[in-house]
Amino acid sequence: MSTAAVIVVAVGVVLVLAAVSFFTLARRSDVRGAGALSSETLSRDKASRKDSLEFEATATSGAVRTAQAAEAEGTAARGSGTALANVDEVPALVPWVAPDPEAVGVSRRQFFNRATVTLMGAGLGAFAAAAFVGFLWPSSTGGFGGSVPVGKLGVIKDGIKQGGGFFYAPEARAWITAYPAEALPVAKTIYPDNVLNAMEQGIVVLSQKCPHLGCRIPECATSQWFECQCHGSQYNRVGEKKAGPAPRGMDHFPATFAASGDVTIDTGTVVPGAAIGVNTTGQEAEGPHCTGGGDH
Ligand code: FES
Repeated sequence: MSTAAVIVVAVGVVLVLAAVSFFTLARRSDVRGAGALSSETLSRDKASRKDSLEFEATATSGAVRTAQAAEAEGTAARGSGTALANVDEVPALVPWVAPDPEAVGVSRRQFFNRATVTLMGAGLGAFAAAAFVGFLWPSSTGGFGGSVPVGKLGVIKDGIKQGGGFFYAPEARAWITAYPAEALPVAKTIYPDNVLNAMEQGIVVLSQKCPHLGCRIPECATSQWFECQCHGSQYNRVGEKKAGPAPRGMDHFPATFAASGDVTIDTGTVVPGAAIGVNTTGQEAEGPHCTGGGDH
């Protein structure tokens, strides 16, 4: 999936989740209003109010009766000179009633609202993390940083001839040049197998990135070398350093060769170039240089 497609999908998902989040929060504030109570809650409230009114009425009449009785007893006591018998009586205990769970705890509605918001937040976070990692993670196939098919070996060799000794594979950001068979015995004492693999097929695959400070290295048609325009590093046609400030020869990419002739470059693996002084082909400049070269 292209970067633009990933961004479009990410924006779409974020907008949808934001809309759902907005709807949930709006509903949550609505249901807090008095008109949104459930019928179950309303009937419970009604029953509770009825009980309360009945209790108040009973208490009031009881209190009136108790006051009248106390007054009569007081009068009788004052008349007879005896003390009131029930002045220190302990009042009747009120039975404990379990509190309404919706009043003291998290209601079911609150629980679902909070769970929705929490899950949505977690989903958004996970999506953002996945998108971030996917965006940064190099593609394993089909693009620079992974395996890049660059065509048939025969076509590439023809391209080298037509290009005056140099073939450029832009999708792999690589140069491909011919490697002479007579240089192979020396190369086998220097290069690792994943570089020799291509040399044995008659080509060398070089990263376009200068090992000095990373400039793109162009070919020089007159000298038949690679000559970096930035600080003047020079390399022969197979990428071995000849002059300039670069610390080594041009870096290599491993290549694989299918029986069908298809060549694939592994741009996810960079093999450091040969050390300064390596010159397996003995190629000297074949004409004027494109840069001044340098010994920085
Ligand atoms: S970047 Fe190529 S010589 Fe400095």
